[in-house]
Amino acid sequence: MIQIAASILAADVMHLSREVHLMEDAGCDLFHIDVMDGIFVPNITHGPSLVSAMKKKTSVPLDVHLMIMRPERYIDRFIEAGADFLTVHFETVADLHSILNKIREAGASAGVSVKPGTDIRALEPFLEAADMVLIMAVEPGFGGQEFMYDTLEKVRALKDIGYTGLIEVDGGINPINLPALIDAGLDIAVMGTSLFEARDKFAFVREVHALSGAPFLQSAPVL
Ligand code: DX5
Ligand code: ZN
Repeated sequence: MIQIAASILAADVMHLSREVHLMEDAGCDLFHIDVMDGIFVPNITHGPSLVSAMKKKTSVPLDVHLMIMRPERYIDRFIEAGADFLTVHFETVADLHSILNKIREAGASAGVSVKPGTDIRALEPFLEAADMVLIMAVEPGFGGQEFMYDTLEKVRALKDIGYTGLIEVDGGINPINLPALIDAGLDIAVMGTSLFEARDKFAFVREVHALSGAPFLQSAPVL
């Protein structure tokens, strides 16, 4: 069954505690926390203090997506704060091997992410050191963007080069494009807008989970 990582970028920040409990009760498997520095991406969001505040509120694992330059400066801070998965961008680091090893040694699962324009095959030398590959399906920086369908090809290419770790896709995922992603080999779907805007979050999560077992292109949930 695929896992759903609820992206809190789409949550109502003034009622974050309520949103976290709602998503937890609905059955989300992870919380996805986007960290943006205003340099690597044209937006600014959260820091380690939000991760530690959420850690106190939920037992659902925290999936922290660092969209910041020189992320090596903050690995320890985010893991101490409670990140269970910590992902850095391929485009932001000079020595990817040592960062991924550092994340693992500090006790978290190590992820590496690529922007839409980055060739997935560039990750090949580093796959042994990664627990998860996060493929961006939109230009990083904002929620609510349109899913890029060539992401499907990247997921398949990653499988073709023999990668056996977790594959996460982030950006624009909804019940329409999700069946094709699952068919390509997706493990974790980051869901922001489509999940938080669903009228019935419980039914949405239930139907997304049920999609994993469904044959390709069986009708998408009507939500
Ligand atoms: C975009 C972020 C995503 C975003 C996804 O840079 O990395 O995690 O929150 O949100 P939706 O599902 O709305 O595209
Ligand atoms: Zn993200």
